[in-house]
Amino acid sequence: MRSLTHAPVFRRKLHAWFRANGRDLPWRKTRDPYAVLVSELMLQQTQVSRVVDYYARFLDRFPTVHDVARARPAHVREAWAGLGYYARARNLHALARTVTDRGRAAGATFPRTAADLRELPGVGAYTAGAVASFAFEQRAALVDTNVARVLARVFAPRLDPKRARDQRTLWTIAEAILPRTGRATWTHNQSLMELGALICTARVARCAACPVRSVCASAPAAPVHRAPARPRRSPAAG
Ligand code: ADE
Repeated sequence: MRSLTHAPVFRRKLHAWFRANGRDLPWRKTRDPYAVLVSELMLQQTQVSRVVDYYARFLDRFPTVHDVARARPAHVREAWAGLGYYARARNLHALARTVTDRGRAAGATFPRTAADLRELPGVGAYTAGAVASFAFEQRAALVDTNVARVLARVFAPRLDPKRARDQRTLWTIAEAILPRTGRATWTHNQSLMELGALICTARVARCAACPVRSVCASAPAAPVHRAPARPRRSPAAG
């Protein structure tokens, strides 16, 4: 693994790029844990462009976690129709019931930390990190396929993101390079995902357009710009 001494420069360049180039996606405008969770469950197996429509429609029909908890399973499934992978809808329903059974006040009972979020039905390490950092602005890491690819290319090109052992190392890297505050972690995690979606993609790494190429272990070396050769003085000129 490459040393992480470049992490501060990596963060600074990545966050500045995201502020200028990040997409204006609906789930980036909310800190409602339920809405963030719905978006993350939808995004697990479905493309961003399709999720945008489904997300709005689903939240129109079930505006709060209480609305999902009270609904019949068939109705939740119906609202999910078209997205496929219905286990996600079943998990969301079970989770909504767990969260609302636990507390009295609406919205007061969502766990706030990644460790506590993981106890909920259907919530794995990635989703727990996403809800903790995107809804509660906690200092929590997340690694999905895109983030794993970005971190491996930048910091550890010999790792294979598909291998379980290497995935654990990638989580360690993700945790080690987190910014100091939870607030900056929101930007950090969104920007890692955005770089993986727009620049450092699985099909092609657009290194020429990449904001972190100067600190990336996989980027081609920058072309050397030589100063044009100075004309030789002729011996006669003395
Ligand atoms: N995929 C999963 N989570 C995402 C997010 N917050 N923004 C864009 N793509 C995502």
